[in-house]
Amino acid sequence: MFTNNTIQGFANVETPFYYYDLSVLKNTLDACRDASSKYGFHVHYAMKANFNPKVIDMVQSYGFGADCVSGNEVKAAINHGFSKNKVVFAGVGKSDKEINEALDADIFCFNVESVQELEIINELAAAKGKVAGVAIRINPNVDAHTHHFITTGLDENKFGINTWQLNDVADTLRKLSHINFLGIHFHVGSQITDMEVFRNLCNRINEIQDWFEGRGFNVKILNAGGGLGVDYYHPDTNVPDFESYFKVFSQFLNVKPGQEVHFELGRALVAQSASLIARVLYVKNGQKKNFLILDAGMTELMRPMLYQAYHAIENLSQRSEKHSQPNPNHSLVKYDVVGPICESTDCFRKDVELPQSFRGDLIAIRTAGAYGEVMASNYNLRDKVQSVYADSSI
Ligand code: LLP
Repeated sequence: MFTNNTIQGFANVETPFYYYDLSVLKNTLDACRDASSKYGFHVHYAMKANFNPKVIDMVQSYGFGADCVSGNEVKAAINHGFSKNKVVFAGVGKSDKEINEALDADIFCFNVESVQELEIINELAAAKGKVAGVAIRINPNVDAHTHHFITTGLDENKFGINTWQLNDVADTLRKLSHINFLGIHFHVGSQITDMEVFRNLCNRINEIQDWFEGRGFNVKILNAGGGLGVDYYHPDTNVPDFESYFKVFSQFLNVKPGQEVHFELGRALVAQSASLIARVLYVKNGQKKNFLILDAGMTELMRPMLYQAYHAIENLSQRSEKHSQPNPNHSLVKYDVVGPICESTDCFRKDVELPQSFRGDLIAIRTAGAYGEVMASNYNLRDKVQSVYADSSI
């Protein structure tokens, strides 16, 4: 991803910034489109992963749909050209204002997370003389074997409707005249790399769709959500394994004639396309610890602090031919790589082995394209993090 030319090009750019390699994004989108279209699967991009305008525009150009979790994401999707027939609106706490706006925009589907929400959408749709398309988000109690902070499909999680409430859902759906039941929706968690989890999900979807059909409901849409993980340990490896992912669903999902299978991928589409680039402000050598103090911290990339997430960290300046500091041995030193924020938790990782590093060195924190820039904040009244794009190869 980083040639010497690229690194030299960073010399005059103010840090920190997100560096987007749009050719990586393009390769990833190509791979996803090729793997999903083999089976006629429909992919919605989970906008929450990254709503950088250039990223959304490129994703949109592939004809994917948009999976939105706020009224503003719905608006952004439509403004960026996503067809309203491909916009779905999920989220456990949609406000009346957001529901009304989505009804006005005539989106394709609301992914509904409680019986009460179903009744409210019906009421608001009735007031407008509209019928809202809905999929019922069901909590399948499938363990995603991922970090517990990003697991969503267990009984203990706040998301979706639990299976013991399905009779209530069925009774309610029969009563509501401004709801068009389209199908069922699931999302069991994020950063899932074990395909067995998706196989288990298929089995649950099969059981639950049979349950609905057995009660006279026509299930047109099976939406399996997102969650496909990426390899954070090898930032320059190939694109995520879309082939195996979609194959599991083609093998184990019981797709009936006329049914559509939908997905909501976020991370897998965008994670590898960006790195956070920072500079070393200070090197603190202690008796027990060495610290590399960067000009980026939890305000620019929160994942390590929030989920103990691993991101590969590289010193780009020590790789550059033009590096000005003599460092003939490139001996490795262990550093705690930390940010400038006034919080002890503001640490990207402890004991990172890097070549001996100096004030002014450029540091890349890799695989930061998903849930990176979007989760940035201005805590400590920090400047908004900037973005730089490389797109010469496309
Ligand atoms: N669909 C629903 C209903 C979701 O809640 C999510 C993500 C997705 C799709 C997309 O999941 P993905 O394909 O990106 O795994 N901030 C956390 C991840 C939170 C995921 C939230 N939901 C992180 O940085 O790891």
